Amino acid sequence: MRRRGRRRGPSARALVERARSLDIEIPTGYLPDGYSLQGMRSSEVPSELVDWMLSCVRDALQPMYTSSSMGWNEETKRNELTASAQQFIIAKINGANAGFVSYMYDLENREAVLYVYELYVAKTSRRSGLGVALMRTTEDVARAAGIPKIMLTTFVDNAPAMRLYRDKLRYVNQFLRVIL
Ligand SMILES: CC(C)(COP(=O)(O)OP(=O)(O)OC[C@H]1O[C@@H](n2cnc3c(N)ncnc32)[C@H](O)[C@@H]1OP(=O)(O)O)[C@@H](O)C(=O)NCCC(=O)NCCS
Repeated sequence: MRRRGRRRGPSARALVERARSLDIEIPTGYLPDGYSLQGMRSSEVPSELVDWMLSCVRDALQPMYTSSSMGWNEETKRNELTASAQQFIIAKINGANAGFVSYMYDLENREAVLYVYELYVAKTSRRSGLGVALMRTTEDVARAAGIPKIMLTTFVDNAPAMRLYRDKLRYVNQFLRVIL
């Protein structure tokens, strides 16, 4: 006799594997005027673009890493950025890089998530809605890939990022872990 109960869906691991294999079209409906987006897999990213993304993260976040117990390790960051499962959404304006999101479908506490590794908007493009647009776009990509949750980590003293995630996007704090 079959037991009645909740029908089991695909496992979280199967969801992640499936999401990683899909080529999702990147929606552009959230973008402020003049911007365009390009989705890329790690294997498609030219080395100059990796260098640019690394320099963005270094410029914006190195002081916060350095003053935390994690410290700043450029090699670790580069390895993270170039990991084979990493995917990217690059924003451009007038042919120049204006920002990016890097993310990976992964298992976190046995849940299938889209994990945002980096979000960066170039200084000249800030406060024009591009950060929100990149995150909303990423949410749509996760939805289209069948992934129910987005996760990310940020420094609690990164005021612009905290305002963006908590106040603007209404993300909830799952694990408040302060690393000193
Ligand atoms: C955080 C970051 C991505 C925001 O990008 P952005 O394009 O300027 O963000 P938006 O224009 O979409 O702003 C959305 C909201 O975020 C908050 N915000 C953004 N910058 C802020 C700042 N300097 N001070 C206070 N709040 C800020 C505001 O609530 C803002 O809404 P509002 O403009 O209506 O007040 C950008 O500042 C950045 O790249 N910083 C360096 C890298 C970084 O810290 N990344 C996050 C690491 S996890």
